[in-house]
Amino acid sequence: MDRKIIPFNKPALVSGEIELVAEVLQQGHMAGDGVYTKKCNNLLELITGAQKVLLTTSCTHALEMTALLLDIQAGDEVILPSFTFVSTVNAFVLRGARPVFADIRPDTLNLDESKLEALITPHTRAIVPVHYAGVGCEMESILAIAHQHGLKVVEDNAHGLFGKYRGKSLGTFGDLATQSFHETKNISCGEGGAVLINDPALNDRAEILREKGTNRSRFFRGQVDKYTWVDIGSSYLPSEALAAVLYAQLTAREEIQSRRRHIWERYASTLSGWAQQHNVRLPIIPEYCQQPYHMFYMLMPSLEVRTRFISWMKDHGVTCVFHYLPLHLSQMGEKFGGKIGDCPVTEDISDRLVRLPLFYNLEDSELDDVIEQILAFKQF
Ligand SMILES: Cc1ncc(COP(=O)(O)O)c(C=O)c1O
Repeated sequence: MDRKIIPFNKPALVSGEIELVAEVLQQGHMAGDGVYTKKCNNLLELITGAQKVLLTTSCTHALEMTALLLDIQAGDEVILPSFTFVSTVNAFVLRGARPVFADIRPDTLNLDESKLEALITPHTRAIVPVHYAGVGCEMESILAIAHQHGLKVVEDNAHGLFGKYRGKSLGTFGDLATQSFHETKNISCGEGGAVLINDPALNDRAEILREKGTNRSRFFRGQVDKYTWVDIGSSYLPSEALAAVLYAQLTAREEIQSRRRHIWERYASTLSGWAQQHNVRLPIIPEYCQQPYHMFYMLMPSLEVRTRFISWMKDHGVTCVFHYLPLHLSQMGEKFGGKIGDCPVTEDISDRLVRLPLFYNLEDSELDDVIEQILAFKQF
């Protein structure tokens, strides 16, 4: 008999997505910035408290927009964690910047703010903290350092919609922030993202860059009588069909979040004894951070144990996956001077981290199965 494999992720299908896409198709407005894009922008402003949100085609593109908005130039330096997705760095390297990789904290796996000052040079322009698993970076210290040195801050909040740090939404601390709605995220439309603009001085230019360098948004609002080329730019706005899917999911956010919370908390409560016994570390959430239940990871005692664990789970029908490889040791990272030992915590964590299935449509019986297989793993 074929065994059903439990995947690591399945995009959520809640309710209303199909109806809203059908409505968009029937109404005949499929390009961007229609009714549903605006509804999503407004709802995201309400959820986060950001003064302006613009949907984008991905978080990667939102990050590219932030580099353009901050006028990052060749020779500028941007400080970011080595333990992140490649888009965090590429957005700035595309503008000619030199990435400077910072190590992470061993507890939250977020950029280690105590390492920042030593990395700042006269060329530094920006700091890009990544809220790993949607658990807030130490934003008070990061903002204080940024202000002291006149640096911009871009929060890569790909994981952290609904996350809060000291009661304030992630994505509202930096000059700019980005979200992802890729299918692996809590709220998704397959591929999608958003840029959060916390400095109103950047509002107008953000609209222009996102609309191919034109003032088309002003034209559609009747503020100019024709639109034209006014700046550099690209096409960063998603189709209305995707915005409709996203709107349906955003509307169902409480249902999605409550299911994810249930799964996360079951992992945490049922695995804690086993983890302690076998020197496995479970996620640490500081009490002043409200997490969005985006990810449940475990730190295994060694790379060898992790490899055996992933293969054991696979043999027992459960897909578990590792995460980022250190960027400073990648082919590109080495070209920027990265070498072993630069970010020891990242190098160690990256080898030992494993993520468990966590998605809205994960059934309770599947969750029980995953937990049972984990508890049966003894190859330490
Ligand atoms: C921290 C981080 N930033 C950016 C991205 C890119 O997101 P997207 O796939 O929406 O471009 C990801 C992808 O998961 C990510 O993990």
